[in-house]
Formats: sequence, C-alpha cells, structure tokens
Amino acid sequence: MQAARLEKIGAYLFADLDRKQKELQARGVDVINMGVGDPDLPTPEHIIEALTRAARDPQSHRYPPYGGIRDFREAVAAWYRQRFDVTLNPDTEVLALIGSKEGLAHLPWAVLNPGEVTLVPDPGYPVYRTATILAEGEPVAVALHADRGFLPDLGAIPQSVARRARILFLNYPNNPTAGVATVGFFQEAVRFARDNGMLVAHDNAYSEIAYDGYRPPSFLQADGAREVGIELHSLSKTFCMTGWRIGFAVGNPEAIAALGRIKTNIDSGIFRAVQQAGIAALTGPQEPLLERLAIFQRRRDRVFDALSAIGWRPARPKATLYFWIEAPGRRTGVEFAGEVLERTGVVITPGIGYGEQGARYVRISLTTPDDRLDEALGRLTHAFGGT
Ligand SMILES: Cc1ncc(COP(=O)(O)O)c(C=O)c1O
Repeated sequence: MQAARLEKIGAYLFADLDRKQKELQARGVDVINMGVGDPDLPTPEHIIEALTRAARDPQSHRYPPYGGIRDFREAVAAWYRQRFDVTLNPDTEVLALIGSKEGLAHLPWAVLNPGEVTLVPDPGYPVYRTATILAEGEPVAVALHADRGFLPDLGAIPQSVARRARILFLNYPNNPTAGVATVGFFQEAVRFARDNGMLVAHDNAYSEIAYDGYRPPSFLQADGAREVGIELHSLSKTFCMTGWRIGFAVGNPEAIAALGRIKTNIDSGIFRAVQQAGIAALTGPQEPLLERLAIFQRRRDRVFDALSAIGWRPARPKATLYFWIEAPGRRTGVEFAGEVLERTGVVITPGIGYGEQGARYVRISLTTPDDRLDEALGRLTHAFGGT
C-alpha cells in the first residue's frame, strides 16, 4: 500500500538506537535524551497571552489568508530591518510558513523539474534531500569538512553538476555541525548561483541562537542576494516555539510567489491566533529570549568542560544547540552512540543521520533540562573519565 517514492527516501536510520533505548527502558534504566533539537524551555509568557487573546476573536476561527496575515508579514519586515538592516516588501517578499520545515519541504515542488539537481550540504538537515527526492529531483551531496569550518567548497563542485543544479541549500548557523558563515561567504554563494543559474535557499533557523555576543548574518545582507535567493526562518528555536508551527520565507519575489502557489494547493494557512503570537514574538520584549539564551550558553559551557575533561575534544559552538563531535578511536558514530547508551543510558545522535560525511560523528544537543544535563554529564564522566 505504499508508493514507490517512499522507498526512495530510505529507512529510518535510528531504528537500531531506538530499539536499544526501549530495551534499556524496559530494564528500568533511567534514559536521558540528549539527541533532539527541541528546546525544553517554555515559550515566553507574552507570546502565550497574545495567542489566548487572539483565539477568542471570532475572526481567528475562519480561514486565514494563504500567505500570512498582513500584520504578520509587516512584523517580519520590521524585524528584518531592525535585526539585519535589510528592507523587505511585506506583500511580495515575505511568506508565512507552517514552520521552516514545511517551506523547505515544499520548495523543490515549486522550483524543480523532474531530474533536476539540488545541492545539499552533507552533513545537513535531512529535509533538503528527502524533499528533493519527493519532487523527483536528484540531490547531490556537497561535503562540509571541519578544516573549512564546515563551509562548502563551491569552487570544487564539478561544472557539469553545477550547470544542472536548480537549488543550493545552505544553513548557517549549521545543524548539525554548528558551523557559521560570514556575509563574505554568502557573497561567494550569490556569485556561484548567478553564474550557474540556480536559487539559493538559505535556512537561517538558528540565526538567534548564538553565544558570546555573536550575531549571525542574513544571506540577504550579501549584494545581489535577493536576485538569486530566499531565506527561511523559524520561530521554533528563537522563541522556544517548536510546537506552535510557525516560520517564514523571505527574499526573491518570484521564488516566494512560486512557493506560495504550491502552498495554496496544499494547506490553508496558519491559525490567525498563532500568527498574532508570532507578531508578539517578533515585536515584543527581548529579555525572555536573552534569559533563555543565557541558559543555553551556560549549558554549552558545562558540556564543553565535561567533554573536554574526558578527552572527547569538542569544539565550543558559537551558535546553535549542538555539539558535533568526532567519535574517539576508530569507532563509527553509530557504534559510539550505541556504546554511550549502553554504558550510561544517555542518548546521543549518530551523525550518519545527517549524511555520509557524518558517519564518524555524533551530535549532542543542549535542550535537556539543567538537572538532567548534570546527571548525564556525571554519568559520562564516570563511564568515560578513565579511558
Ligand atoms: C536546520 C533546521 N532547519 C529547519 C528546521 C525546522 O524547524 P521548524 O520547522 O520547527 O521551523 C530545523 C529543526 O530542527 C533545523 O534544524
């Protein structure tokens, strides 16, 4: 009863780890999950209040406009001006999304013809690849290496591939590597896209999750970016709103229109009350965000200290919620994550789930509550401290 296309996106790679986790839980082990990128901290109160207020307005109970209510699109444009000094036309250059994942998943349907290529970062967020396949395109992996700061070497992509490519997916700050990019790199991506006639889709889901005062840039800050690209944002990580399902795409008007057109045939917009909450998030007080960021930063430092002490040689992330760590010894990430789970009951993610280049890595996230994080680090220190 399954379409053939489902087979093409492959099996669930973490099935084995999942099985092990369930086995341990059945044996009574207190499993701590440091594998998911889902902030444990609650959504700020003023955002929840905006939702409840708007939920009582009968206008919210009707179909919302497809591309987002005008006030939400204006709030996005105002946020972009203030945060990145980039001016957007809220009518033609802003589109509301049911989370950035939704926009990323539908984008290939909007711009790709069957058989055309997308360039997907490896390792990378898996949706770029699977969405390409579902739209009958061909994803070509572009390797991200530690020695280049996990930035792709665009000049090394063979001409024959670049000429067939229609979308270049980028994501900085990067999941899973925590790599970051400069406007200079985005400038290079603009040139590459222009020379080869493709669209850049920059996933900026982690633009606000950055530490030590670092402020990640927007792709649209590069000269000419709007002619060749769009940027996708998420309110999920920034405002601890993963469950609310709201994000947005901005940039190139033709690409925005094409994505919007696909969406009119698939969904019927975002609950107005959630969009009102989104406006409150984008235009409201910043203190609740800074408080949450301070918590993530403290956790980052605790994880860095603990893992350094046991010789795992972590790099201290400048942004995102993740540590990307090479498995010690000659183990694969799957073997290492399995061993960590077996010995400590702590779940970490094997890097292979993000692409072949991740095979020797694991990802550890900072979204575990403080007391559980301390417990997990204590167990890791105890189990691996002497090795
Ligand atoms: C790189 C990246 N992009 C997009 C998303 C999707 O976020 P959402 O759909 O919640 O906006 C995630 C979620 O983990 C992510 O890591």
